[in-house]
Amino acid sequence: MKCDTKRACAGIGAVILVGALSLLAKNAAVAREPYTKEELAEQEKALLAVVDHGRDLWHGSKSSMSTNGLACGNCHPDAAASNPQTFPKFQADLGRVIPLREMINWCITTPQAGKPLDVNSDDMIAMEAYAFYLYRGKQIAPGLATEQTSPVVVKSGTGYPKKGSGIGYDKSPGPTGN
Ligand code: HEC
Repeated sequence: MKCDTKRACAGIGAVILVGALSLLAKNAAVAREPYTKEELAEQEKALLAVVDHGRDLWHGSKSSMSTNGLACGNCHPDAAASNPQTFPKFQADLGRVIPLREMINWCITTPQAGKPLDVNSDDMIAMEAYAFYLYRGKQIAPGLATEQTSPVVVKSGTGYPKKGSGIGYDKSPGPTGN
């Protein structure tokens, strides 16, 4: 583009600048609009259904996860000592830093001698949802070693505790009341 006087050049510059700015504004993405109360309620309901499914899995609803009669809830009542907020972290047996889902599979295959879950499966998401749900409000602290607590075996032998250990949270109905 050609401009003869200083003023004309400035004018053209300004037009180009305004054009560029308005283009930018048009393309500026809004992350999302705030959700309505109804949408939030729907999302909460969907989450709690997954947490409920996780709760069942933690209490032996999927037989392939164990071959010795133990379920997660036997050693981790209320997801106790599962410390999901400390992942990812170094796991000594595996010799590397792992996410929570790999630790879950470690407990399925080692103390429960069961078949690991597909790490991307709905079941694995539910397993994580249950653990994280019970640790709401806990500070995220990956690798935190000082808060390690030992799992406590509350019941063992054959047969799965279908609906919880009777301790704490597990005593009450699940978050959606079933
Ligand atoms: C027989 C008892 C037993 C059962 C059953 C069991 N675990 Fe564990 N769990 C352990 C022990 C022991 C450890 C500590 C292992 C370690 O840190 O190397 C542990 C550790 C964990 C951790 C990591 C805790 C931390 O602070 O690092 C998670 C998460 C976990 N278990 C989840 C589960 C899940 C999910 C199930 C069911 C699929 C399950 N466990 C079943 C005994 C058990």
